[in-house]
Amino acid sequence: MINYTLKQLYSFEAVVRLKSFTKASKELFITQPAVYMQIQQLTENIGSDLLKTHGKTVTPTYIGKLLYKTCLEVISLLEQSRVDINQTLDPDAGHLQIAVATTTNSFVSRALAQFKSKYPKMTFHLEVTNRELLLEKLSNNDTDLVIMGEPPNDMNLDIQPFMENPLIVIAHPENPLLHQNNTIEDLENETLITREQGSGTRHTIERVTGMVFDSEIQINSNEAIIEAVQAGLGIGFVSKHTVELELNYGIIKQLKMEKFPITRHWHVVHNKKSKLSPIAQRFKKFIIEHC
Ligand code: PGA
Repeated sequence: MINYTLKQLYSFEAVVRLKSFTKASKELFITQPAVYMQIQQLTENIGSDLLKTHGKTVTPTYIGKLLYKTCLEVISLLEQSRVDINQTLDPDAGHLQIAVATTTNSFVSRALAQFKSKYPKMTFHLEVTNRELLLEKLSNNDTDLVIMGEPPNDMNLDIQPFMENPLIVIAHPENPLLHQNNTIEDLENETLITREQGSGTRHTIERVTGMVFDSEIQINSNEAIIEAVQAGLGIGFVSKHTVELELNYGIIKQLKMEKFPITRHWHVVHNKKSKLSPIAQRFKKFIIEHC
C-alpha cells in the first residue's frame, strides 16, 4: 500500500519545481527543516533517493523525475476538483443538474433563461424525459432537482407543488364532438392519440378516468400529438400548457368531456437524503415563486 502523504507530495513538487528547499519552504509557508523532513519521509517510504544537490541547486534523480510526473498529475486533479467543488457550492456560480418531464418544456426553459440572467455565472444541464425515467433518476439520486407531474408516494422524497397543470382533450376544429358534452363512451369510435407508456400525462389520465389506452397511435412528443390532431388524425390528450398557442388561434379546439380538465400541479422534487447545493436551493425557490 502506498503510504506517502499529500503533504509530502506537495513539498516534493515545490522543491523540484523551485529547485530549492528554501524557496519551497517560503512558498508553502512552512520552515525549511519541515520541508526536509517531508522529503526524507517520502524518500524512506519510496526506498530510493529522489533528489540530488549541486551546491544550492536541487534536481530530481531518475526515480524523482518519475514521482514528479505523478505529483503533477495528482496535484492538478486535486486542484481541478477543488475548483469544481467551490464552483458547485458558490451560490452565484454553481452547476445545476435538472431533469424534467417532457411536458414541462413549455415553461422550464423560460424559467432557466430568467434564472441564468439573474445568475450569469451558473451553468446547468437540463435533461428532458418522461416520468418513468425521472423516477429512475430519483431512485438513483442522479440529479439535483426533478420537475414532474405526479411524484410517487412510496419514495423518500421532498415534494413541493407549484403551478397548476390542467390536462385536456383536444380535437380538430371540425370534429362533430365539439358540439356536445361528451362522455368517455362517446370516444369509442374515435382514434385516440396518446403519449407513450411511461408518460406522466398518460399515467394520470388513465388513473383518474379509468380509461386504458390501447390505441395504436402513441407519440412521445406533445408537439407531435398536437400536429397529428391538427392534421385530423384523431383526438389527443395533452397538458393545456403545451397547446395554448393553437387554442388561441383556433386551429385546435378543446373538447368538453366528463372528468376533464384534470387539474393537478407540477412538483419540484428531490431525494430527501441528498443535500441540495446552494444553486439548486435557489432554483427551487425561484421556480416555486415565479411559475
Ligand atoms: P410526461 O410528464 O411529459 O411524462 O407526460 C408529465 C408528468 O410528469 O405528469
